[in-house]
Amino acid sequence: MHEDIESVLFTESEIVAGIDRVAASVTEAYRGRDFTVVSVLKGACIFSSDLIRRIPIPLELAFVSASSYGDGTEAGELKLNFLPTNQEIEGRNLLLVDDILDTGNTLNRLSAALAERGAAEVSTCVFLDKPARRQVDFEADFRCFEVEDLFVVGYGLDYAGRYRNLPFVGALHQAALATS
Ligand code: XMP
Repeated sequence: MHEDIESVLFTESEIVAGIDRVAASVTEAYRGRDFTVVSVLKGACIFSSDLIRRIPIPLELAFVSASSYGDGTEAGELKLNFLPTNQEIEGRNLLLVDDILDTGNTLNRLSAALAERGAAEVSTCVFLDKPARRQVDFEADFRCFEVEDLFVVGYGLDYAGRYRNLPFVGALHQAALATS
């Protein structure tokens, strides 16, 4: 295990099982309907690339990028960096995929932005859900795992840009949170 990680919350094999379960639900929900997976950069890149390879029906892939003003562990106001093209949004069934649903601000804001730009339907899928931190009334349509109120890293999730490449999800030592 990485020296900055205090405990492993989800191992590689648990992650595979969680993604298989969600991929099956997504497949059933979209069977017979065109849809586009919209991956929220950067954190969801690993989850979405594993997820789509377990969905055996036609889909398209697009990306969106948003960032909160301010770094670190507290979510700030959201800035939309880029959205899919109008052609990728208008009249499409979109499945927004993010790494973690925390306060809910990111997916709430992104869902509204895509709906405003003419998406036929916007649903959401998250790797992790941290309901204890919710600030807005927002729930994901699909989720792999619920997590307690800990700052977690790995499998796409970062702290100050690091740890995205860990193949598991872990909680950081307080010392690593303080010094990074
Ligand atoms: P909101 O609060 O908008 O948060 O639902 C979504 C974004 O906040 C980041 N986030 C985390 N990143 N470990 C992380 O590495 C965490 O525990 C965590 N909580 C929130 C993340 O970028 C997510 O997309």
